Amino acid sequence: MEKWIRARYLPGIPLGKDGKRVTAGKENIVLSRRAAGEGMVLLKNQGVLPLRHGCRVALFGKASADYVKGGGGSGDVTVAYVRDMFDGMIEVMGEEAVYPGTMKYYRNYVAAQYEDHWVPGMVAEPPVPEVLLQEAREFTDTAVISISRFSGEDWDRKSDRAKITRKDPVTGDAVSMSDVLFERGDFYLSDAERTMVETVSQAFDKVIVVLNTGGMMETACFRNNPRIQGLLLAFQGGMEGACAAAELLAGVTCPSGKLPDTLAENLDDYPGCVDFYDSDTYVNYTEDIYVGYRYFETIAGAAEKVVYPFGFGLSYTRFSLSEQQVSFTEDEVEVRVKVTNDGGCPGREVVQVYFSAPQGLLGKPAKELAGYRKTKLLAPGETEEIAIRFPLSQMASYDDLGKVVRSARVLEKGEYRFFIGTSVRDGAWAEETWILAEDRVTEQLTARMVPTNLEKRLRADGSYEELPTAPCNDFNYTALAPMTPEVLFANPETRAIPRISHFAPKDGMKLKDVAEGKMTLEAFVAALPAEDLAALLGGQPNVGLANTFGYGNNPVYGIPNIMTADGPAGIRFHKNIGVTTTAFPCSTLLAASWDPELCGEVGTAVAQEAKENNIMVWLAPGVNIHRNPLCGRNFEYYSEDPLLAGKQAAGLVRGVQSEHIAATPKHFALNNKETNRRNCDARVSERAIREIYLRQFEIVVKEAHPWSLMSSYNIVNGHRASEYKDMLTGILREEWGFDGMVTTDWWTLGEHYKEVAAGNDMKMATGFPERLLEALEKGVLTREEMEKAAINVLRLILRID
Ligand code: BGC
Repeated sequence: MEKWIRARYLPGIPLGKDGKRVTAGKENIVLSRRAAGEGMVLLKNQGVLPLRHGCRVALFGKASADYVKGGGGSGDVTVAYVRDMFDGMIEVMGEEAVYPGTMKYYRNYVAAQYEDHWVPGMVAEPPVPEVLLQEAREFTDTAVISISRFSGEDWDRKSDRAKITRKDPVTGDAVSMSDVLFERGDFYLSDAERTMVETVSQAFDKVIVVLNTGGMMETACFRNNPRIQGLLLAFQGGMEGACAAAELLAGVTCPSGKLPDTLAENLDDYPGCVDFYDSDTYVNYTEDIYVGYRYFETIAGAAEKVVYPFGFGLSYTRFSLSEQQVSFTEDEVEVRVKVTNDGGCPGREVVQVYFSAPQGLLGKPAKELAGYRKTKLLAPGETEEIAIRFPLSQMASYDDLGKVVRSARVLEKGEYRFFIGTSVRDGAWAEETWILAEDRVTEQLTARMVPTNLEKRLRADGSYEELPTAPCNDFNYTALAPMTPEVLFANPETRAIPRISHFAPKDGMKLKDVAEGKMTLEAFVAALPAEDLAALLGGQPNVGLANTFGYGNNPVYGIPNIMTADGPAGIRFHKNIGVTTTAFPCSTLLAASWDPELCGEVGTAVAQEAKENNIMVWLAPGVNIHRNPLCGRNFEYYSEDPLLAGKQAAGLVRGVQSEHIAATPKHFALNNKETNRRNCDARVSERAIREIYLRQFEIVVKEAHPWSLMSSYNIVNGHRASEYKDMLTGILREEWGFDGMVTTDWWTLGEHYKEVAAGNDMKMATGFPERLLEALEKGVLTREEMEKAAINVLRLILRID
């Protein structure tokens, strides 16, 4: 078969078994719904769930009709339809079981708000009409309240308790954020929502709350309210997520999701929130490695702020863990445990193993997730034996200040203990411990990404230690005349890109010759004129359905134009094209499934949709850490814990690439704030970088070998991420062995030649070949650096089929 048929001819051949399209086809939508059910987390259940067979319900809250399938911006997906909670409950329980009055009321209201340009999740909560309340009360004693949340790219979430003000960048005056947002609520309920919840919970005997949110939000008000007996964290479950939630409420399926984040009482309880809005130009990561449960379980006084702990989630059945055993080999820990379903319905449980390392000189979190495994669906009475293995070296800490051995990963001497359970708090310490007599270096590295402007960081005992500083802000420097915004943000469709070679190819060589083994990639690239090399390092115009541009595109040398498309909840096409795809659940829900194989199934399904639509590179998964609830893109990301995020995303990447479509883990790295994302400096210690913020990327790179990776917009320790050689070459390639292509995020403010020199191979959405050539001439970029990048670009293209 000829290579790159789809890239070259854009055929419309369906990939379904029966000659039908897989895109938004039944199988994928069924998978999307199944995945949604696997990740939703049951947080509270005082005998009210599952709903009794034949019972009737009344739905409250505008979110019953205003279902949010996923977040906004590039993470959105264009779909043919989205089911709401009424659809779900009617489908699962029957039309006669759902009170019709609120359905009419909320649907009409929400439709009018959409007409008025409000997007799903941003519609304000209307009052509950007294007459509906009474009628509903006569219809049933059971109320299901829905609350939904929306967030998106390029803006962060807000606290509606604190009055947030920011400075106008031009006048310097204090400007307060939109009052509309405050009223509509975000992490906290809005006043109108609080009133609605209060009104409904006073009127009904049984009250269940469904949270349809991609990010964390307050839950203490539900946990503490005795009139609310059920609470389901349903996340943003994709186009049929509401049906999956209904199936869980009705007991058609049994909840098995577990929290991928700690749910704390207040926003200020998260250490990363404290100074989040202090500046638009920098964020000090002073909490260091104490992110999420590492903070709440370690720092004195923090534990009581937790409403629902990391890893927590209820089921309709009961499980017992027995015959736990921990054993050690030269370099591995193995935990064995039997899980038995002691309850009355089939269900799945997640076994979680945490380790506790000696405090030593470096200081450690009280617990760290070491491994996990979800059981198969266990029938009542059935037992499964689980084995979880992890390397001893995984328990090492990175010594950035040389307290034991500088720039090394170190296992400090002392006793290592293991906690086996079903959340970070539910479980028991194993009797077996691992004792190390002498400090052990597991890996000697070199100092990379050293902080320059971070003055202090948190320690395990709650005190702060001072860090050396050496101010550095190299991100505005360029050896060329600075670029104007007109040039920087020029549309690649209209910009004249000298992408077609004016030179006759040497011996008529074509990239296919490399694919067929007739010449090496190195020889091919070495024969390309500088102009073609330069053009190859920037984005190419869209063809077909694509809207995020492509790579390659040099017909003279037989280099196809490989199209990209966004994710991570599916393939995103423009709304006005008329091609819809499957919207899968948001990434946080996928993380909450604690099931990497399920992520793999989703990855495979999305890749098939990509392929069918002649897209070859998927710009997903997003794997940044949930440092705090405010980041507007948390719904696109997995977890506060890098191991969980890394393992789940690795599963997804394996699924995608099994279809010969490239995955693109993003945004590398430390893009944890959307406000001023192109110019905000993440100031963070080397240790936190290696143990928290890069760790999930490392897992994905080493375990799933993604063919490409996207660097981020932001600045890290004074360097633009896309120009940061320490990160893109030093750590990514030299330490981890990454052999794929690195692309920038779209329209970074980075200088193209500096990006190429740093190991960022591709500039999107458009490159600046003329600047590369100028830099080459001035000697600030070498031909060798350009060839290296071109080899990575072409290697990616060669991998695709
Ligand atoms: C986002 C990326 C996305 C790209 C292309 C950027 O604004 O940050 O995640 O892949 O646009 O749409």
